Amino acid sequence: MALLPILTAPDKRLKLKADPVDEVSADIVKLMDDMVETMYAAPGIGLAAPQVNVLKRVIVIDVETYDGGDSHNLLTLANPEIIEQEGEIVWAEGCLSVPNFTEDVIRAERVVVHALNQDGDKVEIAAEGLLAVCMQHEIDHLDGQLFIDHVSRLKRAIILQKLKKRKKSE
Ligand code: NI
Repeated sequence: MALLPILTAPDKRLKLKADPVDEVSADIVKLMDDMVETMYAAPGIGLAAPQVNVLKRVIVIDVETYDGGDSHNLLTLANPEIIEQEGEIVWAEGCLSVPNFTEDVIRAERVVVHALNQDGDKVEIAAEGLLAVCMQHEIDHLDGQLFIDHVSRLKRAIILQKLKKRKKSE
């Protein structure tokens, strides 16, 4: 396994749409493993392949680490697709590609997602609350969207300006 560098905004590569995975090949399994290691090391509760500069529809999620608890509930998914959604929830979201910022985002409270797991099997996942939020956030990354694309233009401009400034001073 290997730790992968995480792209941070503003970066044009984070705006690109990722390609579907044809099959969960050995390369994809390795990508998933590396993403899991990178997510836990960050630490984060979710990571999408475009964030590590791979334009494939692959995400990894473990919201159980949210409280710093030991009970892991790891999801490694290819081609995730929201097939049902309902309700509304507001969550203060953050992102490893938008470090040190959080903003309230409105999402569906419950989603049903179809995907392939790391064994290449079709799975259906019913998620609510934080897991539903995280699913939507990571799937957004596959379509070149960041959580700051869901906040006001003014807030987004301020955050991007600060991130740009921080990058220059690094
Ligand atoms: Ni993110």
